[in-house]
Amino acid sequence: MKVVLVVTGALVLIAGVWLWTDIPRTPRQLYESRCSACHALADLSRRPSDELVNIIETMRHRNGAASVISETEAEEIVAYLKSLKRN
Ligand code: HEC
Repeated sequence: MKVVLVVTGALVLIAGVWLWTDIPRTPRQLYESRCSACHALADLSRRPSDELVNIIETMRHRNGAASVISETEAEEIVAYLKSLKRN
């Protein structure tokens, strides 16, 4: 009985901390938090799909976004933006 209470308490605590922290959890949240670090979110809806990689690479290598956006995150953001195009 005691063990169950302790385990339940621990889970509630972990869930609380997880919900409370502001870590981006979905590709969309990742895109919104990373790409709004320096300027308002750009409207990419009219950019062709194959330009997206270049835009994000330019941000990272020419505009200094590599300090905010890792390579893995950049790939996730590109994949997310491309998935919007297919709809
Ligand atoms: C470290 C700062 C920084 C971050 C983070 C950043 N940008 Fe930028 N961005 C800039 C600067 C500086 C400019 C203006 C210079 C220019 O036009 O290239 C710009 C301009 C732009 C433009 C307009 C230029 C064009 O090619 O049309 C777009 C679109 C853009 N950013 C998209 C993004 C996206 C998408 C992300 C997230 C992956 C992002 N930015 C993250 C600094 C940043």
